[in-house]
Amino acid sequence: MSSLSSVFITREVFEESIELLKKNFKVISNQNDILFNNFQLLENLKKVNIVQSSGSDMLDEKILSKCPQLNVISNTAVGYNNIDIDFCTKNKIMVFNTPNVLDDTVADFAILQMLSVARGTLSNDKYVKENKWKKVFLKQQMGIDFHNKKLGLIGFGRIGKKIAKRAKAFDLHINYYCRNQEKSKIENQYGAHYSDLNNLCKNSDFIVVIVPYSKETHHLISYDQISLMKKNSIIVNIARGGVINDEALIQALKKKKIYGAGIDVFENEPKINEGFYELDNVVLSPHVGSGTYDTRKAMSLKASENIISAVIHKNFINLVNKEVLN
Ligand code: NAP
Ligand code: GLV
Repeated sequence: MSSLSSVFITREVFEESIELLKKNFKVISNQNDILFNNFQLLENLKKVNIVQSSGSDMLDEKILSKCPQLNVISNTAVGYNNIDIDFCTKNKIMVFNTPNVLDDTVADFAILQMLSVARGTLSNDKYVKENKWKKVFLKQQMGIDFHNKKLGLIGFGRIGKKIAKRAKAFDLHINYYCRNQEKSKIENQYGAHYSDLNNLCKNSDFIVVIVPYSKETHHLISYDQISLMKKNSIIVNIARGGVINDEALIQALKKKKIYGAGIDVFENEPKINEGFYELDNVVLSPHVGSGTYDTRKAMSLKASENIISAVIHKNFINLVNKEVLN
């Protein structure tokens, strides 16, 4: 690769990203944020050897196999389940992501979602705006407490740990589940205890799902796990659509088998299961866990910097499939 390499930026990014890339590469950008169909996406991908993608571009084998000249994909997200990593590794395509820069923002959002559901922020707002507030009384619009409760983290990576750090300030008792138990030093640092998934579902008052989406985590939370949850429990999904079986969750929320849910990510988003629309015990958001001005800008820049580091400086920061270097 040389400085004559060309980059296709699939969706709108911060202008600073384009300026940065233009210093080193020929850049094709999509600042009008046109939602390309697969054919149009492919036409553009074929023109370049580097792509700065968005987490919503499906870069699967069908598309990538038609772009043999492609050697770098820099995803503007920490999650990369939209990219066929095995295909990329086999075909020597380097894949980069944007970890770390969004951890605090997403952790803030997890706390917000739990509190919003527990304290009925949206229904309180509606109640006041619809002029239903006619008198003050003791049992008005009551929610449930957050502090001192049991928090179950499904996923205890970068973001999970930032949530635990915040949870400690609320005196929450923290359990976590993932495949590899942390060393006791880390557990002590966060005051977190390892649990298997079923026990975590059974014992938690609040559950946050924050694992990557993969074949293994597909429907990790489905009918069986939800059936174990407490009647007053609240679940928050800020991971990826498909980690929770949305239909199973909707059924449980409809039947009030759990107290409520805060859902930021959905199966088949943005065309979500319409069953969600009818529920009054959910807080829904359009995949904005990392959605602050500062953090989205940091992600945009990080994705561009990853390209420059790798291609110009041969410094492979945030490379997901390190095997390609062998
Ligand atoms: P991370 O640091 O890689 O942590 C992932 C955690 O999930 C680890 O504890 C990992 O532990 C666990 N895990 C992975 N595969 C698992 C499996 N099959 N079963 C059980 N646990 C598993 O990732 P992160 O930076 O915290 O981000 C996590 C995910 O959050 C991202 O991949 C992305 O999809 C999502 N996310 C969403 C938003 C949003 O806007 N809503 C924003 C940022 C990130 P083990 O490897 O030991 O199992
Ligand atoms: C957002 O969902 C991300 O993975 O960064």
